Amino acid sequence: MVKRQFPKPRDLAPLMKFKKVELNAKKRRLASALTIYDLRRIAARRTPKAAFDYTEGAAEAELSLARARQAFEDIQFNPAILRDVSTVDTSRTVLGGPVSMPFGIAPTGFTRMMQTEGEIAGARAAFRAGIPFSLSTMGTASIEDVKAANPGRNWFQLYMWKDRDRSMALVERAAAAGYDTLLVTVDVPVAGARLRDTRNGMSIPPALTPKTIVNAIPRPEWWINFLTTEPLAFASLSRWSGTVGEMLDAMFDPTVTFEDLAWIKDQWPGKLVVKGVQNVDDARKLAAMGVDGIVLSNHGGRQLDRAPIPFHLLPEVVREVGGDTEVLLDTGIMAGADIVASIALGARFTLVGRAYLYGLMAGGEAGVDRMIQILSEQITRTMRLLGVNSLDELEPGHVTQLARLTPIAREPTDAASTASSKASLPKTASVKTAPAKTVPVKTASGKTAIRKTASSKPDGAKAAKRESSSAESSPTKIKAEGKK
Ligand SMILES: Cc1cc2nc3c(=O)[nH]c(=O)nc-3n(C[C@H](O)[C@H](O)[C@H](O)COP(=O)(O)O)c2cc1C
Repeated sequence: MVKRQFPKPRDLAPLMKFKKVELNAKKRRLASALTIYDLRRIAARRTPKAAFDYTEGAAEAELSLARARQAFEDIQFNPAILRDVSTVDTSRTVLGGPVSMPFGIAPTGFTRMMQTEGEIAGARAAFRAGIPFSLSTMGTASIEDVKAANPGRNWFQLYMWKDRDRSMALVERAAAAGYDTLLVTVDVPVAGARLRDTRNGMSIPPALTPKTIVNAIPRPEWWINFLTTEPLAFASLSRWSGTVGEMLDAMFDPTVTFEDLAWIKDQWPGKLVVKGVQNVDDARKLAAMGVDGIVLSNHGGRQLDRAPIPFHLLPEVVREVGGDTEVLLDTGIMAGADIVASIALGARFTLVGRAYLYGLMAGGEAGVDRMIQILSEQITRTMRLLGVNSLDELEPGHVTQLARLTPIAREPTDAASTASSKASLPKTASVKTAPAKTVPVKTASGKTAIRKTASSKPDGAKAAKRESSSAESSPTKIKAEGKK
């Protein structure tokens, strides 16, 4: 029988821990976000659908992005115990300069459309944190204003337009303003099919239609900001009535080749990095050209759908070119653990695109600060739990990749498939071949025949999830040598 008594005030007092109520709604909102996915949820509530979907969306069935994220989820960390991890250093030298953490802000176009503070918010937050900020050719703040907001490291991202003189004029301005690195993006010969934009009738700037006005009602702050601040303007043009994809197709030069890259390289005084590398052969060619770095990236899944997963390419690319060229990585990073795993497999540095934009949409500059804080805390905590004190101590042995979404071995059928299969098969990873299945197919004469085939996969991002969750998860050890 439990003996009960009246609670005495002197016993209650130590239990009463009322926190000071945060009166600033933005601070309260951002403090409630513990992960990048939390920031994403806040961003979705506060941003008009067309602008949010432009950020969130990828190309076609959005499989490239879903798979890149899945690949990060499908890792196991292997910690070492009984190490003194009282101090952790996340800094290193990247492309000739210091960074306080192993990630920087990726170049994104039209950033003021997501939230009115745009690139300036990102640049200021990057400066405070000691990480590089990348400004896109399609940026909505000028090269000089971004430099003023971030006296630290700025990188300029170049898209080669049909009007080369105008493209190179931007490059000259970036050099004059003291940008230390040029990122030449090479995965946009034409625009990827961003179906959400077409479905939403997304134009630049967003148009006031009955649909957007209804959608604006629960998001007044975005619209007040949009209508009462400087109109959206681009380095290139101020208005475009079609989708972003149509605009890119009208402006971008689809004839750019390795020779053009060499020509650009000759004119740039700083470090030159090629962004959008997706196989080992191209990485080798670029290393032979003497570029300073490459970014393994499929543009956050916004270009070619079903593209190689950059994280899967990492070990072989690092092994092949990592001695001469710094290998960077982006696409799909949503947590500090993704960054730690990339560094362990040999990436010198990583870039975050959507994670940054979710922070921006959730709370402007303070939201970008929060994004950086979340990733930074996740990185240091993961490193401590792994038993390492510095980025250089991270090594491939810290990561086991679980064997979902690994490429199925097959006979190459043509030159293109040779390149991609060579590129996507990690040399030391054991590759599982899906069991052959018999499926009925219609013959030319209309009769039904039975053909042997590798296991067929359903379409769509949800299907990718289903496919991966039903797949086996046996561990595949990745061994990458020659890590820089
Ligand atoms: C809204 C948005 C706009 C982007 N604009 C550009 C751009 O102008 N130039 C560029 O090289 N990459 C651009 N990217 C790609 C990013 O630089 C980066 O490769 C990608 O976002 C990485 O994937 P993540 O979003 O999963 O981090 C853009 C990405 C997003 C989400």
